[in-house]
Amino acid sequence: MVATPIVAGNWKMNKTPTEACSFIQESVNLLLDIDRVKVIFLPPFTGLFDMHVEHPFSLGAQNCHWEDQGAFTGEISVGMLKDCGVSYVIVGHSERRHVFSETNDWINRKVKAIIAADLIPILCIGETFEQRKSGQTNQVLEEQLQDGLEMINSLEKLVVAYEPVWAIGTGITASVEQVSGALSLVRDILSIQFSDSNIDNSPIIYGGSVTPTNAEELISVPGVDGFLVGGASLNIESFTSIIKIVDKIILNK
Ligand code: 13P
Repeated sequence: MVATPIVAGNWKMNKTPTEACSFIQESVNLLLDIDRVKVIFLPPFTGLFDMHVEHPFSLGAQNCHWEDQGAFTGEISVGMLKDCGVSYVIVGHSERRHVFSETNDWINRKVKAIIAADLIPILCIGETFEQRKSGQTNQVLEEQLQDGLEMINSLEKLVVAYEPVWAIGTGITASVEQVSGALSLVRDILSIQFSDSNIDNSPIIYGGSVTPTNAEELISVPGVDGFLVGGASLNIESFTSIIKIVDKIILNK
């Protein structure tokens, strides 16, 4: 493994700022000896304000708008996030794509705004159950990557998260073969699209029902550089266990 492994906790619409603060403090205290894994906390926007974390911990946001400011009720700009100490921003999460109808064009605008602000996008891609069943997985992943990264010149600041929609919040995890197949496809697509960049330095992580029980098997899959965790990141014990498992396994990867 070349990229530093990442374990990111996407809390979605959970936890008040007070809860976020004590969760992060407690987790940090339980992870004092972790330094080989980047840990990213992604609370709701309100949990980002006045939250201070240090290496190997970072803050991430779950969404952003591509404009700097203006009449966009309910939106937030990358500048506002940066001022809160955010380093990463999730873009194209399946809930944004499927519940809020975000298009690849919007996702691409957001990726560009995030990179322009010197923050790191976590670009989520993934197929639905129907798309997988009808053999469209490769085409969907290719489209999401090519359109989402249009006009981006370098992979230097990018995390790609492969999150099959059917594995999110369902308790169904993608098999080792499915994860390794999708991730090698992602690498192939990126190496064609970014022939000048070193793909090995770009972390590609997996998300979809990751728990302490399946983390060891999944992080052992060649090409998996970490996890984007939903449900299991809401509980201190399960989130910190996943991080400790990744920290242990990467030594031998
Ligand atoms: P779960 O881990 O709850 O399946 O959610 C995954 C996810 O959507 C992370 O972004």
